Amino acid sequence: MSAAPEPGGTADWYRHFGTVDAPGNSACYAEWSLGIADDPELIRRIERWPHNKRQPLLMLAAARFLGARISPYPEFRRFLDAHWDELARTVLSRSTQTNEAGRCAALLPSLARIAAAEGRPLALIEVGASAGLSLYPDRYGYEYVAGAAGPVTRLAPAGAVTGSHPVLHCATAGPVPLPDRPPQVAWRAGIDLNPLDISDPDDVAWLEALIWPEQDFRRERLRQAIAVAQAGPPLLAPGDLNEELVALAGQAPPDAALVVFHSAVMAYLDADSRERFRETVALLAADRGCHWISNEGHTVIVQADGSSVVPEMDDARLRGRFLLLEDGVPVAIAGPHGQSLEWIAAR
Ligand SMILES: C[S@@+](CC[C@H](N)C(=O)[O-])C[C@H]1O[C@@H](n2cnc3c(N)ncnc32)[C@H](O)[C@@H]1O
Repeated sequence: MSAAPEPGGTADWYRHFGTVDAPGNSACYAEWSLGIADDPELIRRIERWPHNKRQPLLMLAAARFLGARISPYPEFRRFLDAHWDELARTVLSRSTQTNEAGRCAALLPSLARIAAAEGRPLALIEVGASAGLSLYPDRYGYEYVAGAAGPVTRLAPAGAVTGSHPVLHCATAGPVPLPDRPPQVAWRAGIDLNPLDISDPDDVAWLEALIWPEQDFRRERLRQAIAVAQAGPPLLAPGDLNEELVALAGQAPPDAALVVFHSAVMAYLDADSRERFRETVALLAADRGCHWISNEGHTVIVQADGSSVVPEMDDARLRGRFLLLEDGVPVAIAGPHGQSLEWIAAR
């Protein structure tokens, strides 16, 4: 999620998105957002929306959802004029809920070693699960490549037929504790303010629209992950993660090792909510032996002393990547879509 740069207004937000966030991910979004930043009439229209609805990714995804094709800015501008009312309705009714199954590649080593240490299958709860596609780490394939062209470790789900599941590619560095096989998952459930439904074509179209236009490989991975999830749809509780977590944990089978995890969610919570969540996880750890895996940008991790930055991590080290923590302890730096994993802890 790209935050609005302060103290600039909407035009600066789009300019920042077009010069910092989009380049390297989408030349089209870079051009469109810079075009919008220099288009005062459009900025005026966007500023009629509530502040949290003005974010570039939401607006651009809404345009894609309605059929905007990769094109030069003047053509995109004509598209916006022709579809403005529909676009506003989409922006006001939707939010950025990108569901990236690729993040399972970053989570898998931690999940596998919890299962191995516990000697039993896992019960997974993902908070901020979107459509729940990260709840199937046992049903995806993996290809971990060490270094520039080092040894490749391939993992396949038990009994899987090639082509029936996505294969998640991940470049590794450091002593990543790769397992021999994905862990067994006995039960899986998620919580989201607005769970997306993989059996609803509109929700699936929205998930596709949230992927940057040129990133076809991510759209293909999304489709494959949705097909996996459709074979056994996830249990998703609607509501705030702080309100729902304890009740949902109560439904997990007691003979499975409970793991609560999240990726790209804490940025949506204020500091009090993050602290409350940390306290709830600590309670579940004490009562239930629950494990906690956090995969988030470093500035949003609330530490035991209440501070919100992991001291030894800074922007220069993370470079837009996520910090992976096991029970509050940093163990790795992960590519934001699970495309890389640098292990920083001793194994
Ligand atoms: C960027 S998406 C990430 C989805 C998923 N974790 C992934 O990695 O693909 C963030 C999700 O968190 C959800 N969310 C934000 N605040 C929440 C809250 N307080 N309680 C539950 N879900 C929340 C949003 O609705 C959204 O679906």
